[in-house]
Amino acid sequence: MTAQLVSTAAELAAARGAGRAVAVVMTMGALHEGHATLIRRAREIVGRAGCVIVTDFVNPTQFGAGEDFDRYPRTLDHDLQVSSIAGADLVYAPSVEEMYGTVRVDDLDGDVMVEPGRLGTILEGASRPGHFRGMLTIVAKLLHLTAPDHALFGEKDYQQLALIRAMVASLRFPVEVVGVPTVREDDGLALSSRNRFLTREQRAIAAELARAIQVAAEVAAYDGPLAGERAGRAVLAAHAQIQVDYLVITDPQLGPAVPGPGRVLVAARLGETRLIDNLPCSIGPAS
Ligand code: PAF
Repeated sequence: MTAQLVSTAAELAAARGAGRAVAVVMTMGALHEGHATLIRRAREIVGRAGCVIVTDFVNPTQFGAGEDFDRYPRTLDHDLQVSSIAGADLVYAPSVEEMYGTVRVDDLDGDVMVEPGRLGTILEGASRPGHFRGMLTIVAKLLHLTAPDHALFGEKDYQQLALIRAMVASLRFPVEVVGVPTVREDDGLALSSRNRFLTREQRAIAAELARAIQVAAEVAAYDGPLAGERAGRAVLAAHAQIQVDYLVITDPQLGPAVPGPGRVLVAARLGETRLIDNLPCSIGPAS
């Protein structure tokens, strides 16, 4: 069945109805198999009687000046098709005015925004100032508008997921946040809407990011986090086209690495395209 396309809060509320379990998958469109996996999981969670909503909105406030907002792909027809096949009931694709009213999105100083706190200042937050403020603000708006019981997010954006969990706990949103493991290409590259920007040459080496964090995870398990980070960075250093932003090992909450469960995170640029990836790991004592 084709998912119903709605673009205003009133249409959304009418189509959503009341009295049934609701799961939301928030996206910026350009849907790929990673999104389809989230939608199928959402359907499993709420069952046939429940309602699965996909939001489709390229959020201007989470892009910095000089980032790829203008060239970010807009593929609504395709998104509607992917959402329908994966089992969504509704696709909510609002306009910028619907989400931000008359506020100028390039001058938000006068607007109410959600501040991410310290967790939003490291890693992606350090490289992309203002990104998490914009991201949390739109996620908060969309949680209010869709009023879901479950909200599903990919683990590929690991820091985003951690911040959404923190916001939901802090602002007492009555929703269960569900993290879903990253979907990968056969060579390991994490699926991302930005992969389409890679040239054939860049695409051929992009999976080195996944290999680097895999190597880092293996070394960290035996020789500790610093050795793991060094080994991961060495994989990427072999490719002049890959400009590493960070490759770090942290605890699962993105705090300092200590022996036990951990996370390896990487961000790197291939030409104009910035990619991120991460993996769970187990951290051994430093040797
Ligand atoms: O992960 C994304 O696509 C976006 O950051 C999100 C959560 C849809 C908010 O715009």
